[in-house]
Amino acid sequence: MAVDAYDLTARTAFVTGAASGIGRACALLLARAGATVHCADLDLPGLDETAAQIRAEGGTAVPHHVDVTDRTGLRKAVEACERPHIMAAIAGIMHSSPVLETRDEDLDRVLDVNFKGVLYACQEAARLMLAHRIRGSIVTMASGAVDTGGPGLLCYGAAKAAVVQLTKTLATEVGPHGIRVNAVAPGWIRTPMTDRHEAGAQDRIEALMARRSPLGRVGEPEDVAHAVLYLASDASAFMTGQILRPNGGVAMPW
Ligand code: NAI
Repeated sequence: MAVDAYDLTARTAFVTGAASGIGRACALLLARAGATVHCADLDLPGLDETAAQIRAEGGTAVPHHVDVTDRTGLRKAVEACERPHIMAAIAGIMHSSPVLETRDEDLDRVLDVNFKGVLYACQEAARLMLAHRIRGSIVTMASGAVDTGGPGLLCYGAAKAAVVQLTKTLATEVGPHGIRVNAVAPGWIRTPMTDRHEAGAQDRIEALMARRSPLGRVGEPEDVAHAVLYLASDASAFMTGQILRPNGGVAMPW
């Protein structure tokens, strides 16, 4: 098999969270591989910027201003793809609070965006793939938090653990139709999310995270985008129900 396995020409991808960070890097890379990329996000200026960047590189982008927690709005946006070959459900939010201080509304919001938003995207994409007999690829966004836990990570980690369960369950249900479903679980990636989360302490946190990696650095959005491209493309034709961990090796006991 040649590098053609990464060629996405004539394929249509839908990327949530495409206005920023990892989602934007994924949208750009999928477009560079030849896909028409439908970009979805709440952040309209960021969305326009991603679409403009894709078009400036000669690619095709279709922006959708949509909240992933709005099932009807998301359905309309995914249906605009007509025949989605790839769904990358990347949109998410960070939340940190100790278990004893976690409020119902925090848990609800994080589960709504980080779990239900991914669930809706998977459901809408899988329905269309099944209807059109597309042997598609769905990529969900988990996190290294599912492996490690950590102080404050209750809501975020619970939502990401639910994403892993969704990924494995859906993979078994749609696999017989040739549809693959895999998750990525990145380590610490330098994005606006991590900048906001550790406002004022980025250098200290990044140095700590980099020390935990045998590679001695934190991740960049492109590191995750390459994992998503692999899972989205035919290069990963025998991969389903898997969790791919672009994390610089941080989880290894070394
Ligand atoms: P980011 O904050 O740069 O990008 C997240 C994007 O999701 C933003 O464009 C935001 O507008 C969008 N979004 C948030 N809520 C939305 C909603 N309800 N509807 C539509 N769009 C919405 O964050 P980053 O770091 O790029 O994160 C992307 C994904 O990667 C998230 O799911 C995050 O949990 C996950 N992740 C990030 C890691 C990191 O270290 N940055 C590590 C592991 C996972």
